[in-house]
Amino acid sequence: MTEYDRRAGEKLAALKRGQAAKVLAIETSCDETAAAVVENGRRVLSSAVHTQIPLHVPYGGVVPEIASRSHVQKIGPVVQRALEQAGMSLAQMDAVAVTNGPGLVGALLVGLSYAKGLAYAAGLPFLGVHHIASHIAANYLTYAELEPPFTCLVVSGGHSHIIAVEAYDRYRLIGRTRDDAAGEAFDKVARVLDLPYPGGPNLEKLALSGDPMKYTFHSAFNEGDGFDFSFSGIKTAVVNRLHNARQTGEKIDPADLAASFQRTVVDILTEKAVRAALLERGKTGGKLALAGGVSANKALRGALEKRSAEAGVAFYCPAFEYCTDNAAMVGAAAYGKLREGCVDDFSLNAIPYLSIEA
Ligand code: KG4
Ligand code: ZN
Repeated sequence: MTEYDRRAGEKLAALKRGQAAKVLAIETSCDETAAAVVENGRRVLSSAVHTQIPLHVPYGGVVPEIASRSHVQKIGPVVQRALEQAGMSLAQMDAVAVTNGPGLVGALLVGLSYAKGLAYAAGLPFLGVHHIASHIAANYLTYAELEPPFTCLVVSGGHSHIIAVEAYDRYRLIGRTRDDAAGEAFDKVARVLDLPYPGGPNLEKLALSGDPMKYTFHSAFNEGDGFDFSFSGIKTAVVNRLHNARQTGEKIDPADLAASFQRTVVDILTEKAVRAALLERGKTGGKLALAGGVSANKALRGALEKRSAEAGVAFYCPAFEYCTDNAAMVGAAAYGKLREGCVDDFSLNAIPYLSIEA
């Protein structure tokens, strides 16, 4: 047994005896370098996020190599900031958790390697966390009473899923996108409307002054009674509408187009998510949570809140600061695994296409 095994083993044994767990969490899956200290998966002692948005704006999207290089520069200071804000040292932590997939492989590797180094040096248990599980766990930071099982609509830049959260670390896929993720569709439509990166929040802003009923974009696939989504056809319909107008000289207000696109996507997500929550009601008691970067969208939050209330479903969504990528949610997700005694060894790798189902 190595010195590390002995020290980490002692920490883990203390956690199993019910000692409070302070987790140092790290997230570098895409374009945010983030670190946080979270106690018992629910109490955020600090959350530091360095966003790379200004670096990627000139390219209209995330450039993977630029993202990795920026993570390498910022990871040290961001971790230090998280510890300082919590008023604690590395030696006072009980575990180190890090996102190990899905995401950009070069970006993931920075956080993963850094987290391994910290865990090894401090003799702390180490574990990798699934990025989507983290987004889901962002809800635990906002609702102290929320526990699995519940249904969750996960909408981010890379994923659109309806997931049955059966336990803290057990997930079942109910529906998924067949093509683009919801956030990706927002970003692509924003781009054709000449809005700067990141497209989603900028499109939402533009939509505020538009008429959401001005244009209709039908999608036979989404009107079916399945739980899978398809957004690429809607995106193409918006792009075609804009090109046709440009060719014929018809004047189109981009705000109307943005608002109509947003309404279409929000309607599809809301209808399927609430129907899935009702289907699962026998197991969950009727609980629907929202997660992922697009959960910051107020139109989506509002529509889900309204339709959930009408359907008798309890609706949960993370505080705004925990909607887009952050490390506090990683600390929340890690606690669910730690409670089960799930830790990883230092051979853990970054997995760009990691599945959330066991
Ligand atoms: O979860 P996230 O921060 O990163 C991924 O894991 O992908 O999600 C980023 C995605 C981007 O596509 C971004 O445009 C979208 O979430 N997004 C939004 C809003 N805020 C972020 N989409 C629509 N409305 C928003 N307010
Ligand atoms: Zn994310």
